[in-house]
Amino acid sequence: MPAAVADLLDGPEISTLTLEAATAELEALAQHLNDANTAYHGQDAPVLDDATYDALKRRNAAIEAAFPDAKRTDSPSDQVGAAPAEGFGKVRHRLRMLSLGNAFSDDDLRDFDAGIRRYLGLTRDATLAYTAEPKIDGLSLSLRYEDGTLVQAATRGDGTVGEDVTANARTIDTIPQSLEDAPAVLEVRGEVYMRHDDFVALNDRQAKAGAKIFANPRNAAAGSLRQLDPNITASRPLAFFAYAWGEVSDPLAQTQSGAIDRLAALGFQTNPLTRRCDGPEALLSHYHEIEAARATLGYDIDGVVYKVDDLDYQHRLGFRSTTPRWAIAHKFPAELAWTVLEGIDIQVGRTGALSPVARLTPVTVGGVVVSNATLHNEDYIAGRSADGTPIRDGTDIRVGDHVQVYRAGDVIPKIADVDLARRPSDATPFDFPTQCPDCGSDAVREEGDAVRRCTGGLICPAQAVEKLRHFVSRAAFDIEGLGAKQVEYFFDDTALPVREPADIFTLEARNADSLAKLENRDGFGATSVRNLFAAIDARRTIPLDRLLFALGIRHVGEVAARDIARHFHGWDALTAALDQAAPAALAYLAADEAEAQERAAAAEDGRRARIKPVRDAAFGEVAADARVAWDDLVGIDGIGATVAVSLVTTFAQDSERASIRRLTDQLKIAPVEAPATASSPVAGKTVVFTGSLERMTRAEAKSRAEALGAKVAGSVSAKTDLLVAGPGAGSKADKAASLGIETLDEDAWLTLIGDA
Ligand code: IVH
Repeated sequence: MPAAVADLLDGPEISTLTLEAATAELEALAQHLNDANTAYHGQDAPVLDDATYDALKRRNAAIEAAFPDAKRTDSPSDQVGAAPAEGFGKVRHRLRMLSLGNAFSDDDLRDFDAGIRRYLGLTRDATLAYTAEPKIDGLSLSLRYEDGTLVQAATRGDGTVGEDVTANARTIDTIPQSLEDAPAVLEVRGEVYMRHDDFVALNDRQAKAGAKIFANPRNAAAGSLRQLDPNITASRPLAFFAYAWGEVSDPLAQTQSGAIDRLAALGFQTNPLTRRCDGPEALLSHYHEIEAARATLGYDIDGVVYKVDDLDYQHRLGFRSTTPRWAIAHKFPAELAWTVLEGIDIQVGRTGALSPVARLTPVTVGGVVVSNATLHNEDYIAGRSADGTPIRDGTDIRVGDHVQVYRAGDVIPKIADVDLARRPSDATPFDFPTQCPDCGSDAVREEGDAVRRCTGGLICPAQAVEKLRHFVSRAAFDIEGLGAKQVEYFFDDTALPVREPADIFTLEARNADSLAKLENRDGFGATSVRNLFAAIDARRTIPLDRLLFALGIRHVGEVAARDIARHFHGWDALTAALDQAAPAALAYLAADEAEAQERAAAAEDGRRARIKPVRDAAFGEVAADARVAWDDLVGIDGIGATVAVSLVTTFAQDSERASIRRLTDQLKIAPVEAPATASSPVAGKTVVFTGSLERMTRAEAKSRAEALGAKVAGSVSAKTDLLVAGPGAGSKADKAASLGIETLDEDAWLTLIGDA
């Protein structure tokens, strides 16, 4: 992953993300969440506690809300509540049931093809065949056959553990009970769905019986399959398309298309619109064919799935955490609806970001009533993107406008378009506030920031409340009985105010001395008060990563907090390092500014910018120990300068520091250790690849190394454990040699990881 993406992973304000950044972060989030799932469901120790896991999921959902387009087909949000329901037995999938990444445009598909070629080291002219087939809008099912007999059927669940629906699956006509000439072990995967006519008839029957009416065929299929009584499932018209497989004792074929043919020969229904295509243009033409046929198919589809045809290539390409690299879903365009923009509200976030929200006349979009939409930031309203290029052809958004809203997932909708012809004559451009609507402080936009922020800091009640809400959120302090609502209650309380995190931990003592005791107030019984204080006490010991995340420092998301905590282990080491790095962080900011000036000056003079001298000058005065501390900080895998600057400058601000100290005085901070990774010869090692690799591409080498628990870094430092050097290795090899770092050639590396 490029360093820039790793930076984004560390949680910048969502409203500042670009679509690409959001997409990248969603991918990373999916990966972390999936790793956590794997560790949780596997024998390993969990890598994330529940609250942390939930917070990752929440960030994921929030990004999806702001960027519905970037939502992944395998979105972890869709897995909420997907854990096996009580009542069904659980089935651990022997091979995980994966999901698919998304393409929304022709170019996304071309990028997908180009990425695969890069990964495999194929030229643009080399033939690379794919299959294209409809993406069925149903629910996936895995059928296990042993010696030709159906022995188990399981839903996908969270991908690792699903529900045992064997008895129900046996009632579906298109699922064979037994197979002839099948491999001894064969898991067939596909989609359970309901045809439109069957759906309408079912709903008619349900209506007559006064029973539940299903919203759409997919819900009907899911509700019908997940019946505890198989007789009910039997009475429901379900069907099954086979399109993939899990564990098999003998390969089905050498190609995806061959395997699908084999499944058809074994008696499974496979989709008649499955085609083998020689490259993106042929895939696109098949996409349009399927799109044109969509209305006449008689069942719901929501896109087209492309898969690399050659199974050897599929094997080499392997998987990201939850999605295969060799397949992608090309979604049909999202649903749209026109409505009226009634108003624009400004919400103030924890870091002061002013976020505009559209209040809409309620309208149904794809079966869901929508009454608000994100407007991202002031540029977005004005009709330009962060870099000044026009969006919506430069059309701004005004209160009173007819706007077109769309949803690309079950998330907060966005505005796609504005109908200028219907703009009221008195509509005026939106005046984005330059003062915080909550505290009245100036709201300013710093250079390079897409977002206007309230400068009120600790004095802004909106920020303070948001900070507290963040502080008590599940991934942070997660104090039972002290959620967002309670925090707001105490924030405004005159007798027992909670204005900053430290106040939470003095609440019990203050309550004891107070005349307006909690236990005497409406809504608080003696027991609930006792429980609240016990819950607060239970959090007086807090792991460093949680504390760091809970502080709500801009750009320091959960992942960054964890990486930083693992690096420094303890609070004292962390704060000492941040203090030490402070002069370098300031120099970094100065260098950034000087660099921008130099670039501007160079552009004006028509010469190339001379960045190095500018940077050297800015850092010239910085003491060596500050440089070392800074380099150490930004050298943490996944921590970039943005995170580092934010962290260091927050700790360097007197009022913030004092507030943090008041808090930590109340706490015992537990050190955090990096978890032991699976046993592989390179687990936990930091590996650098340099020079040209001959047996695989850099991307493939990196993902294999990561799959084995290694960290792959871009440059050699004292922290590097291993350098893998191909021909043409230059300065990195020299540096490794001078640092005494073990260096292997590609063959020795492959031998080491057992891949020779
Ligand atoms: S292939 C490893 N093919 O879409 C790849 N999935 O968004 C496994 N789906 O979980 C999936 N039609 O439930 C594949 N023709 C198709 C599909 C399909 C529908 C579903 C499937 C999957 C989801 C991912």
